[in-house]
Amino acid sequence: MPETKSEDYRVVGRKVKRVDALEKINGQARFAADISFDRQVHCALVIAGTAHGILRSIDTSEALQIEGVEGIFTWKDVPGENQLGEVIKDMPCLVKLGDRVRYYGDVVAVVAARDRQTAELAAGFVKLQIDELEPVLSIEEALQDRILVHEATNNRVSKRIRKGDAQGVLRESECVFEGEFYAHYQEQAYMEPQGITVVPDLDYGFTVYGTMQCPYYVQTAISNVLGLPMSRIRVIQTETGGAFGGKEDVPSYVASYASIAAFNLKRPAQIIYSREIDIQTTSKRHPVKSFYRVAMEGKKIKAVEVRAYMDMGAYATLSPVVMFRTLVHAAGAYEIDNVSIDTYGVYTNKVPPGAFRGFGSPQVLFAIESMIDDIAQRLGIDPLEIREENTLRPGSKTSTGHLIEESVGAPVTLAKVKESSKWYQLMEETIAFNSTNSDRKRGVGISHIYYGVSLGAGGQFLDKSGAHVLINKDGSVEVRIGGTEMGQGAKTVIAMIASQELGQRMDKIIVHQPDTAFVPDSGPTVASRTTIYSGNAVRNACGNLKAKLSKVFMESFSGDSDLPIFEEGIVRDGRGHEITFDSLANAAYSANVKLFESGWYETPKLSFDMEKGIGEAYVTYSYASQVVQVEVDMTTGSTRVIKAFTAHDVGKAINPDGVIGQIQGGFVQGMGYALYEDLKLVNGKILSDNFNTYIIPTIHEVPQDLVIDIVESPFPDGPYGAKGIGEPSLMPVPASIANAVSMAIGKRVRQIPITPEYVLRLIEEKKD
Ligand code: MOS
Repeated sequence: MPETKSEDYRVVGRKVKRVDALEKINGQARFAADISFDRQVHCALVIAGTAHGILRSIDTSEALQIEGVEGIFTWKDVPGENQLGEVIKDMPCLVKLGDRVRYYGDVVAVVAARDRQTAELAAGFVKLQIDELEPVLSIEEALQDRILVHEATNNRVSKRIRKGDAQGVLRESECVFEGEFYAHYQEQAYMEPQGITVVPDLDYGFTVYGTMQCPYYVQTAISNVLGLPMSRIRVIQTETGGAFGGKEDVPSYVASYASIAAFNLKRPAQIIYSREIDIQTTSKRHPVKSFYRVAMEGKKIKAVEVRAYMDMGAYATLSPVVMFRTLVHAAGAYEIDNVSIDTYGVYTNKVPPGAFRGFGSPQVLFAIESMIDDIAQRLGIDPLEIREENTLRPGSKTSTGHLIEESVGAPVTLAKVKESSKWYQLMEETIAFNSTNSDRKRGVGISHIYYGVSLGAGGQFLDKSGAHVLINKDGSVEVRIGGTEMGQGAKTVIAMIASQELGQRMDKIIVHQPDTAFVPDSGPTVASRTTIYSGNAVRNACGNLKAKLSKVFMESFSGDSDLPIFEEGIVRDGRGHEITFDSLANAAYSANVKLFESGWYETPKLSFDMEKGIGEAYVTYSYASQVVQVEVDMTTGSTRVIKAFTAHDVGKAINPDGVIGQIQGGFVQGMGYALYEDLKLVNGKILSDNFNTYIIPTIHEVPQDLVIDIVESPFPDGPYGAKGIGEPSLMPVPASIANAVSMAIGKRVRQIPITPEYVLRLIEEKKD
């Protein structure tokens, strides 16, 4: 087994203070709702309030009478293109009179008023007349195509993998298993709701402030909606209180609504969503229904066939790209020669799901990992051993036939959880507990996953990042990147990289809020790509600056010096020359040396055949293995996680504390998905539209023991070997919990969330 090695550095890999901690604790940090401008109006949305129908009339007369209302804008007031969507532009910005409304949260009008309360009140007085149509509310109904959400068919988007001959092997095999799984919605539940302010600016365009992951998406969307060149739209990210994918494409829509008010009133316009509007109208994790068939030969997986159906809701939004990840991850972290996967996205008259930590993969990882577990149980193979037998390892080919030779830590992560959980002993203890308890039952579950880092073959054209680094004459360093900090710790990692490269102290380095005026389009801050992409861009810029400073250093000792080393704010050579970084910066300034550089990193080119789904799907993969122990109350059906052991191959932990934070947060969010979070809809209206009815885990549900192992199997193209951790922190969780509950109750869990009602239903079912 390859033991993982990573180098030692002065800053990278060490313990540091989080650079944005103080301001976020003392209240100085300004989030979307904390900024305001002179003469600013506040906006509220008028939404359809019905799942499917024809918009017959919009009556604003009564609302306009309300004191403090400054204007109400409809499709007629959109100066540019009244159309939104990152991939397929199938979503109206504001629904046009006579057109269809396709979900409860479709936006019809924007009300602007002197304050938020007045705007929200007035929105309730805008009267819509909608001729209701029968809605499509499930994947099954959508597939019938009896009612169409758009034209032609509801089954609009599909992707596939054909590797080897899965059908042939399944036909011939004597040992075939089948399974059907369903994963429900999950709401991102970021603390800070959506919010944007659009301000007419000095350049006769608009400056946009707000909570977001992707400033360049927002810039493009407003440019289209207002019909202005991108050069007239400047986007600055405010501090962002969580996103988890929910602020990938959504802020483009939020900003579009506010920009229509700002454009028409020629005044700053702010919109801050209420939690209810946020949950009713914005993206979630996709519901996915999947069907699996697996052929075994001994302990070896010979073939996997998958059909997975995603509910795209009323508009495609990001679904076509989310689906690429569903496709690539559906057969799991295993080497399988024969793979046939079909993924389909169907339209329904419901809220359009989109990006959420894992991006279409947790649903199918839950399914494949449940399937493998079920097979192990039926064949009497230890669930850990079946994974050891089939795992990807250096030299394996993934389900898309991608030969992976480097940075494949999967066998190591499995070994780590085997060791940390004391696997065999834990199993025995659990079985012993169950033999003496009948009202409570315990179970142990394992999962093993892989994650394609960055945008992959489907999104290569977006996979680049810029940076801008400036050194002032006092030695202070300004770093600007195109990636956003949303709580995940990007600023700290970037400051560490700059500190490592320049040898300047961390406290002399500032990483600014992203601003499209300073750094060119750097792609989206998604797909666990920021450390690699913004990190490499910063490293690149810093390398050039350091070369210049080295030259100034050597010139100042008129040829009597060696190439200096830069450490902790001091620059020195081997001949006893030493100067502070700050003095050297000042010397460079006085010598008229250019002390700003841009950095750039673009993705290594991937070769992929979209027709067959064969090729290099992603630049590299992160790996994780996880063991959990749960206890189920057999009377109430409720489950709690007692212990968890999780191991993650991150390539290199640049900021180990940050990596641990991601893994802890991802675990809790994954546990919420698996056990507690249950979005309730009736006729396309979400009933659980606040946190009194949509239940997310609290500190009380966090297991006492959450043991984390960081595995470092370096990725040669990553900064210092780093890969991504943002999403893989969540991805193994639903599967390991589902497998543990299955063992506890002696029935196979086939859906998430594993609510108490569902557990009781399974317990009461006849033994299968
Ligand atoms: Mo993330 S789910 O790739 O925004």
